[in-house]
Amino acid sequence: MKDKKIDCSKTKVSISEMVLPNHTNNLNTLFGGKLMYWMDMAAGICAYKNTKKIAVTASVDNISFKSPVYKGDIVTINAFITRVFNSSMEIYLEVTTQNRKTGKSIISNNAFFTFVTLDKNSKPVKSIEVQPKTEEERKLYDGALRRRQLRLILAGKMKPEEADELKSIFN
Ligand SMILES: CC(C)(COP(=O)(O)OP(=O)(O)OC[C@H]1O[C@@H](n2cnc3c(N)ncnc32)[C@H](O)[C@@H]1OP(=O)(O)O)[C@@H](O)C(=O)NCCC(=O)NCCS
Repeated sequence: MKDKKIDCSKTKVSISEMVLPNHTNNLNTLFGGKLMYWMDMAAGICAYKNTKKIAVTASVDNISFKSPVYKGDIVTINAFITRVFNSSMEIYLEVTTQNRKTGKSIISNNAFFTFVTLDKNSKPVKSIEVQPKTEEERKLYDGALRRRQLRLILAGKMKPEEADELKSIFN
């Protein structure tokens, strides 16, 4: 029997943290490495909850820090699976920061993480399948193949000439 596909929206997990003094840098704003840790944790929980398998971080796409996050702010990270290939899955993360003084929330960061599911011998193993339903999910699903090829080229795991989705960029 074929495995059932999970709707992308059903793979979503959300974690929140309050920025405490031990999370900050010398400017009293959130230390970037701490945010990356929380993002990796959210993506890892998302991968595990949905696959019920051991999953490791294979790569992290570009993370930009658009605005400082202050002590006392609430950071919320939403993560969901955009597309699963074979053993690897792309997870989209959106970070929202709520300012303690104004109560205003902004999207402060977003990023794509790739996780790979492993079997008990730590070998990559086929993961679940997901299906996009909304327009946003479909856009992310379609773009995932392009992003996968780009990250595999950057990791030295694919030759540019094999990247059919990226032909217009490289040729
Ligand atoms: C990620 C890892 C399991 C890949 O193993 P590998 O032997 O290179 O396996 P393969 O080349 O067969 O690739 C397996 C999958 O990983 C994907 N992959 C490998 N390197 C990748 C990269 N840099 N970026 C994105 N995907 C990658 C492949 O595309 C493939 O996906 P698919 O099965 O969906 O087609 C391995 O490199 C590893 O264990 N890395 C360390 C992970 C780690 O410790 N993370 C941090 C702590 S959690």
